[in-house]
Amino acid sequence: MNIKACIFDLDGVIVDTAKYHYLAWKRLASELGFEFSEEHNERLKGVSRMRSLEILLEVGKMNKSPEEKEILAAKKNDWYVNFIKQLRPDEILPGVQKFLNEIRALGIKTAIGSASKNTPLILLRLNLAGYFDVVIDGTKVSKAKPDPEVFLKGAEELGIRPSECIVFEDAQAGIEAAKNGNMYCVGVGKPENLTGYDFLIPGFEDLTFKLIIENLKKIKI
Ligand code: G6P
Ligand code: MG
Repeated sequence: MNIKACIFDLDGVIVDTAKYHYLAWKRLASELGFEFSEEHNERLKGVSRMRSLEILLEVGKMNKSPEEKEILAAKKNDWYVNFIKQLRPDEILPGVQKFLNEIRALGIKTAIGSASKNTPLILLRLNLAGYFDVVIDGTKVSKAKPDPEVFLKGAEELGIRPSECIVFEDAQAGIEAAKNGNMYCVGVGKPENLTGYDFLIPGFEDLTFKLIIENLKKIKI
C-alpha cells in the first residue's frame, strides 16, 4: 500500500455547513407553506442543489416546472450564501487543520472533491484555499456521487492513481463514489448512519495519518 494523496469531501468533513443549508431550505419550505425537519435535511447530505430541491418538494408534496425550480434553487442559494459569507476559520471542524498540516508535511497531496458550487467561497472564508493542491467542485463535474467522477478527476489532476488515494467522506453516496472509483475510503461520522467504508472515524480530533494507514493496511483494494 502506497498512499500518495488524500481527497476530502467539504461539507460535513472540513466544515459543518449542513446547518446553514438546513436554515435556507427550511425558510424555502416555510415560504412554500410546509415544515421541513432536521430529519428531512439528513436526506440532503452530499446531494446536489437541484436534487435537494426535488427531495424538499417531495416532502411538501409539490410539483414545480423546471423554470420554477431554477428560481427556487437560486433563492435558497442566495440565503445560503449570505450565511457562508459570515463563515470564520474557527468553524473548521476540530483537528482538520492539524491533520492537513501533518499530511502535507509528509508530502501527501491533497484535494477537495465536493458537489458544492460554493466550494471556492467556503475555502476562502476558512482561509484553507492554500491547503489543497487541487479543488474539484460542483462546477467541474456532470455526474453526482455515487458516481466516482468527482474523485477520479481529483486523482487525475493530482497525477495520482486512484488506488493510491484515500477519500474522506461523511455522506453515504460519497462513500459509494470513492469505492466505485477504486479508492480507499475513510467514513467520517457514526456507524449507525454509514456503511461500506474501509475505516470509520468520528472526526479528525486526535487523528494521525499513521493510525489511518495502520487500519487501512488490513484492507485490500
Ligand atoms: C454538498 C452538500 C449538499 C449540497 C451540495 C451542493 O454535497 O453536502 O448538502 O446540496 O454540496 O451544494 P451547493 O453549495 O452547490 O448548493
Ligand atoms: Mg459531505
